[in-house]
Amino acid sequence: MIRFTENASLLPYNTFGLKAQAALLVEYDHEDDLPHIFQDPRVKGKPFLHVGQGSNLLFTADYPGVILHGNIKGIKFQGTTDDEQMVEIGAGETWDSICDWAAIRGFMGIENLSGIPGEVGAAAVQNIGAYGAEFKDVCVAVAVYDVVQNKHFIIGVEECRYGYRTSIFKDPEFKSRFIVTSVLLRLRTKGLFNIEYGNIKAALLERGYSLQQKDQHTSRRKPAPVTRPITLTAMRETILAIRSAKLPDPAVYGNAGSFFKNPVVRILKYRALSSQYPNMPCYQVLNAKGEADPEWVKIPAGWLIEHSGCTSRRVGDAAVYPKQCLVLVNMGKAKAEEVVQLSRIIVETVKDRFDVQLEPEVNFI
Ligand code: EPU
Repeated sequence: MIRFTENASLLPYNTFGLKAQAALLVEYDHEDDLPHIFQDPRVKGKPFLHVGQGSNLLFTADYPGVILHGNIKGIKFQGTTDDEQMVEIGAGETWDSICDWAAIRGFMGIENLSGIPGEVGAAAVQNIGAYGAEFKDVCVAVAVYDVVQNKHFIIGVEECRYGYRTSIFKDPEFKSRFIVTSVLLRLRTKGLFNIEYGNIKAALLERGYSLQQKDQHTSRRKPAPVTRPITLTAMRETILAIRSAKLPDPAVYGNAGSFFKNPVVRILKYRALSSQYPNMPCYQVLNAKGEADPEWVKIPAGWLIEHSGCTSRRVGDAAVYPKQCLVLVNMGKAKAEEVVQLSRIIVETVKDRFDVQLEPEVNFI
């Protein structure tokens, strides 16, 4: 079914909770609706924007064109091997409900991506990532509707040009052309959990899980702690707990997750900065093969924002979230201009202090 609404509120379609309207909102349930929608005179030739739950959007004004939202649901099994399960998932499924579904059934690979707000289609566009995992690591292919050619086709993962929070679907040439309708994921039924990132190990130990065989041996010297093996649901719950300790719940304080990307700088620049700020963290930049780039490193934007003194910066009801400074929150009645002004102040302050340019991760519309 296709639903057309004129002058529609975009409150349900932006997790920042900002008031904005679309000249036309079109909601649909099936991929076969898309050719009909784009032939409709109310839509044909008009600028459009396809949204999920709007967990990465900042509407800075009313949208004069067409906002599209799909409710394509469904999970289909597409083949099994001894240690893998292929699943095709509708773009309108909620990402975290898929992580929950997979954890319950013993399908590994997306547990570290638990709790990320938004829908499956947006996960494919944005190449969502967290705790050492990225969408591209489990993606096999993405099914799209091509608005220009009026046809459906499948794009293999290598052609999706996945990078850090980016893909072919964000490329200016293709973003008004391809609409993601489903994704094909390869989930594992065997193997090890990815526990290397940040404080995952500490959080697992705190919950009484053993990390690995070697750790259990070395701990023999001390009285052996009562430990239990990590399970998939334990991994998911641990990730959810780490997230909720640091990240605001959009139902309480509107937000769009990380507002900025972690800036990538030359290693020489990082060395110069870290001689002045010895505690400044950095992370490897990985290439498509998963190898560390010898020339570039990533600095956490949250650290730069915190250490440039922006932790309690606020413009009207737009504020920095003090437990994770790269998230900006709506404390209640924030206006888009306030969020934009706050983000400008942060960019300028970080630039003045560290000579590092922050780029927004959130899409300004
Ligand atoms: N840090 C601070 N102060 C802060 C925030 C971070 O000092 O206010 C430093 C700490 O040293 C911390 C380090 O930054 O150890 C890394 O922090 P964190 O593990 O929270 O990761 P991040 O680099 O700040 C990225 C993603 C998050 C994702 C986490 C965990 C980006 C832009 N953000 O944040 O993604 O959840 O890693 O993997 O890459 C999102 O995209 O919306 C998002 C929340």
